[in-house]
Amino acid sequence: MSNPSFNLLKGKRGIIFGALNEQSIAWKVAERAHEEGATFTLTNAPIALRMGEINNLAEKCNAQVIPADATSLEDLENLFSQSMEILGGKIDFVLHSIGMSPNVRKGKHYTDTNYDFFHKTLDISALSFHKTMQTALKLDALNEWGSVVALSYIAAQRVFPDYNDMADAKSLLESIGRSFGYQLGVSKKVRVNTISQSPTMTTAGSGVKGFDGFISYADEMSPLGNAGAIDCANYCITMFSDLTKYVTMQNLFHDGGFSNTGVSQKVIDRFNG
Ligand code: NAI
Repeated sequence: MSNPSFNLLKGKRGIIFGALNEQSIAWKVAERAHEEGATFTLTNAPIALRMGEINNLAEKCNAQVIPADATSLEDLENLFSQSMEILGGKIDFVLHSIGMSPNVRKGKHYTDTNYDFFHKTLDISALSFHKTMQTALKLDALNEWGSVVALSYIAAQRVFPDYNDMADAKSLLESIGRSFGYQLGVSKKVRVNTISQSPTMTTAGSGVKGFDGFISYADEMSPLGNAGAIDCANYCITMFSDLTKYVTMQNLFHDGGFSNTGVSQKVIDRFNG
């Protein structure tokens, strides 16, 4: 099914981080942004680009790919400078869709964390958001009424034990969204938000231990069911559009109602013999 196009991003220039493969939320955002008339560059860590899958997306969206490790200020500076040159002006929207925890990857328990890994988790999954916005500000790379979005998860507020140190990274990510949202609002009229998405079957998602059970539980707890990647992409598009100009410094739940549900009938029924 193809999506309706409303030209919501006509004339807007963007940078999209984090499209690894077709399952990636960022991949869907890129497809939808293209359909809505935006021009943008795609970026990912050099190591993630080696698979080459992103080239199919780039071709489809008529976008150039610029390698950048989101923890490197030098890479980010190059990314913003090159993007402005390629796209022919300042940037209107940025999607930060980046998450990685070496502790999760290596199966380290939260109470037996490796602190070098923990630092990496925070640097890649949270500080990179600060670095991205600081670089954009220093280069004066954002247009007024621009929009910056990062993707988060409800483990920032509630405990999901197997989410491990990513929970702490998401709390920091959301806090940076608020703090930098204030700064960019005052100085540039740019809005900054995080979107807290339902569990979604992607490479990053399925790295979490017991993810299948996790995703089914969330689905049964949510009155509307889990929100899919394409619906998350649609929400991101509205956040980049001029229809949401005064929404800023928010953590916005895109989760089918999960975050406000104590328990659902479906879940109760599982416990009633
Ligand atoms: P994904 O695995 O497709 O995307 C994660 C991306 O982060 C990859 O493209 C990866 O290459 C990139 N990345 C890792 N280290 C990097 C670095 N140093 N520099 C630049 N990029 C780097 O998975 P997904 O699910 O699309 O993840 C996107 C975002 O959505 C992440 O922030 C994730 O935490 C968040 N999210 C995912 C949920 C899920 O269940 N899949 C639920 C809620 C939020």
